[in-house]
Amino acid sequence: MPAVVLIGAQWGDEGKGKITDFLAEQSQVIVRYQGGNNAGHTIVLGTEVYKLHLTPSGIFYPEKLCVIAGGVVLDPAVLLAELGDLARRGVSTANLRVSASAHVIMPYHRLLDELEEKARGAGKIGTTGRGIGPAYRDKISRSGIRVQDLLEADALAEKIRDNLAEKNALLTKVYGCPPLEPEAISAEYLDHGARLAPYVTDTALLINERLARGERVLFEGAQGVMLDLDHGTYPFVTSSNPVAGGACTGAGVGPMCVSAVIGVLKAYTTRVGEGPFPTEIFEEKGDLLRRRGGEYGTTTGRARRCGWLDAVAARYAVRISGISRLALMKLDVLTGIGPLKICVGYRLPDGTTLTNFPSNTRLLSQITPVYEEMSGWDEELGGVREFERLPSAARAYIRRLEELAGAPAALIAVGPEREQTIVRGGVFE
Ligand code: GDP
Ligand code: IMO
Ligand code: MG
Repeated sequence: MPAVVLIGAQWGDEGKGKITDFLAEQSQVIVRYQGGNNAGHTIVLGTEVYKLHLTPSGIFYPEKLCVIAGGVVLDPAVLLAELGDLARRGVSTANLRVSASAHVIMPYHRLLDELEEKARGAGKIGTTGRGIGPAYRDKISRSGIRVQDLLEADALAEKIRDNLAEKNALLTKVYGCPPLEPEAISAEYLDHGARLAPYVTDTALLINERLARGERVLFEGAQGVMLDLDHGTYPFVTSSNPVAGGACTGAGVGPMCVSAVIGVLKAYTTRVGEGPFPTEIFEEKGDLLRRRGGEYGTTTGRARRCGWLDAVAARYAVRISGISRLALMKLDVLTGIGPLKICVGYRLPDGTTLTNFPSNTRLLSQITPVYEEMSGWDEELGGVREFERLPSAARAYIRRLEELAGAPAALIAVGPEREQTIVRGGVFE
């Protein structure tokens, strides 16, 4: 039962969409299992650029089964718009399935996400404003509305009324906003339900049946380990579990079916939103990385903060998620940026150096990164397809990263296109 979990090993936007699309060819089933439309996964196919927020990145292979599993929080209007856009561009979505158990993002979730961020003032998280946190909060507090509820008019109307009794009090009394109307929301979401109905099923059953048949299942993570609710830089995190373990809870499969964990790692680091970022570059090279790497958010268009490769954080991600192989992304962006730096430790004000990522988030604002400097290269890498053809400085950079992170780079990406990928080792074997 070969299942492979693919996750972001940094703060998101590592290139998970590109590698999922690349590995989808060797898979039969591709599953999104957590997060929601806070994710933005870019796939470049020739002249076409697709930005997917909810649809698994295996959708460009019409014969593959694509699943949005129960651990995802789903904004139905966003999914329907995405499916409409794909259909207009000639991409079939007939093989998509949506979990009946996935929780639904409601208008009050989006509204509260925005209002809460404003109320946080200088302490804001920098969320994507898509209602992700408030939707997961309702799930945990057992008042959430699920996809299956959208298929039953009376049950839906009752749940929306119950939820609005609390949310309207919050909106009017705490935030001074006008109340929301239950009838309008019920009608809108019932319509979404009717349009989604053909896709809705018990996806945990479906995935386990496929695994039992020996099919290859690829789990496509969203966000990244450092944004994990339990293991990231709390409170500057998302509200789900992007770590590899999240695939089991989110999709409803046992851990024994997972044969490999692929950690997708950019050859440098980026972060969108607020929160600690030890290797952030504030000088010109940060702008250069942003320009060369096109580092602007897929979902919100915000400029991504850019920094050097952080091997302390990478090793942490490898440990927390049991990453067996790395997919090293955007190596081509480092051309002409050298000399390069890799962070190998965090120095505290008292002079001690941490080589393990600290669980105390506050320490991160006090540390100075300890860097190893490495030679750069000036050759363009977009056409390279074999590891041995990379400039020797690039090979040395990769080998040093592998040593520090504790996992081999099985895949190396040198451009956004599917073919711009160097394969050094199998993933499903
Ligand atoms: P994701 O959220 O992890 O799927 O990543 P995003 O799609 O948000 O951001 C990654 C960006 O880098 C996208 O625009 C990709 O098309 C692009 N990309 C992916 N791999 C490479 C690569 O190896 N080189 C370059 N230059 N761009 C890449
Ligand atoms: P992909 O899948 C990068 C960040 C937000 C914010 C924090 C919390 O494309 O890698 P949320 O809206 O989730 O409550 O915001 O998490 N964030 C991401 N950053 N890539 C993403 O997804 C992200 N999804 C959320 O910027 O800092
Ligand atoms: Mg992204």
